[in-house]
Amino acid sequence: MEPKYRENSKKYWEDVHQSYDSTKIKVDDWLERFDDIIMASTRPIMDLGCGGGNDTKYLTEKGKQVIACDGSEHAIANLKANFPDIREARCMDMLEGFDFEDESFEVIIADLCLHYFGEKDTEMIISELKRILLPGGHIILRVNSINDVNHGAGQGKEIEYHVFESSQGTMKRFFDEADIRKFFKEFEIEYLKEEIMSRYRLEKRLYRVCVRK
Ligand SMILES: C[S@@+](CC[C@H](N)C(=O)[O-])C[C@H]1O[C@@H](n2cnc3c(N)ncnc32)[C@H](O)[C@@H]1O
Repeated sequence: MEPKYRENSKKYWEDVHQSYDSTKIKVDDWLERFDDIIMASTRPIMDLGCGGGNDTKYLTEKGKQVIACDGSEHAIANLKANFPDIREARCMDMLEGFDFEDESFEVIIADLCLHYFGEKDTEMIISELKRILLPGGHIILRVNSINDVNHGAGQGKEIEYHVFESSQGTMKRFFDEADIRKFFKEFEIEYLKEEIMSRYRLEKRLYRVCVRK
């Protein structure tokens, strides 16, 4: 990623999480569909790009152990304060690779955090996720849809195919179904659907996806 996008992204997310209001931690029902996979996991579940902890809240309420990771120091500090019993909360930039052993996880949740990167970085991150996942393990994710016009799809400078410069000077990728099938071609796709999320003020179009290694 070009240094200017990386710096802008770092600053943007630190600002967001510095002023984060923990009363806003809000569980929506998107993970319920995958409860059988989540409940069957005998290992801690990774909440990648955990942000304020919406999914950590869901998982801990289900009694699961969680390893939450995010690139923002403020996000991780907030998470530790709001979930004092969490197994681990780690500040980690996905662009630096993943400092976890091969085949560490049965389930990785990656909610709205895999759509900030160019093609090469996205491929590297997904290949790292594959490496740290056990055979038969799952990644459950949501990413921006190319139809997410309320949140920047098709707007601003197109830096590369389906990747746009946001008004904050960061990179945002918007996926179509073919993009998802291409990036996850080494996985079995068990669920893939474009949906509308109403957690934000304006409705958001995204893809909900579950893939198996
Ligand atoms: C839209 S938020 C999603 C938060 C949470 N998963 C949720 O759905 O509520 C995106 C998160 O990705 C994190 N993030 C962005 N770029 C990252 C990177 N390079 N490495 C690690 N985390 C990153 C941000 O700090 C932010 O918390």
